[in-house]
Amino acid sequence: TWTMVNVVDEQVERIKEQVGDGRAICALSGGVDSAVAAALVQRAIGDRLTCVYVDHGMMRKGETAQVRRDFEEVFDALDVVDAEDQFLTALAGVSEPEQKRKIIGHEFIRTFEAAEVRVFGSLSPEERGDTAYLVQGTLYPDVVESGGGAGTSTIKSHHNVGGLPDDLNFELVEPLRTLFKDEVRAVGEQLGLPSTMVWRQPFPGPGLGIRIIGEVTKERLDILREADFIAREELTRAGLDREVWQMPVVLLADVRSVGVQGDGRTYGHPIVLRPVTSEDAMTADWARLPFEVLEKISTRITNEVSEVNRVTLDVTSKPPGTIEWE
Ligand code: XMP
Repeated sequence: TWTMVNVVDEQVERIKEQVGDGRAICALSGGVDSAVAAALVQRAIGDRLTCVYVDHGMMRKGETAQVRRDFEEVFDALDVVDAEDQFLTALAGVSEPEQKRKIIGHEFIRTFEAAEVRVFGSLSPEERGDTAYLVQGTLYPDVVESGGGAGTSTIKSHHNVGGLPDDLNFELVEPLRTLFKDEVRAVGEQLGLPSTMVWRQPFPGPGLGIRIIGEVTKERLDILREADFIAREELTRAGLDREVWQMPVVLLADVRSVGVQGDGRTYGHPIVLRPVTSEDAMTADWARLPFEVLEKISTRITNEVSEVNRVTLDVTSKPPGTIEWE
């Protein structure tokens, strides 16, 4: 019968078979998928795994520090890379969503290649092995929506699937490729990962880069980071973190509307709240957040983030909308 214990044992065996006595780096995003993938691989190959977390400058407020704290507890070797300049330079002038995703996927891989050289480059050829392995937390829905499943077309290129370059120098290790998120969480609990890690709401690898509608710049990211921080803080205060699957906060960076604050006219940007409920992210419904929570978020964002003068709510299910706007 199919149980989580079986999944863990079976995947650990498969990883041992694939990697042998080789070495691997794991692309750690801070989310549950890559954490569970890394934990399985750590169980299989021990200290021949190094986890690499890339701060691409599109993470949320305080996120990198928190990931560092949480993951150092669980993983023996953690390498944190500051790649903000690299990613934002590569994204300069780009607004088209698929192009953004491809660029981000490409820069991720180049960053992991550089990390592999930094981490394993000083080893002897025998110790380093012939193959460079890259562990990713790719799930079944990522594969399907990136056009990898039979008879499907690309909806959006998930950064760890459709954004991979043709000349990839890695052999991929993807132990979660047949699983859905709820199954991954069960495996994470089976492995004894902390519940903050296992129950963390999903956050896309491309980060806030696909939540800025328009060109991604540092200035726009800082605006969105503030608004997103407030929205998440209020959701947590209301005790709704588990009920809501996730709540993307989106900045319509190329849109401005007129408002009034104090005695003066404002001409600022709208923020969109996109709270959803879901089982597996393949379909979703818009979350009926209490009006008081919405009011609190709206008041605080327009008071505390001077560039934002309007907060709107996305009431579209998936389909026809997707969860993320890009
Ligand atoms: P969509 O927008 O396709 O999102 O309805 C479904 C789920 O996937 C997340 N998502 C991503 N996760 N890399 C990821 O790791 C990506 O490129 C990516 N794009 C979307 C999204 O947050 C939602 O949970």
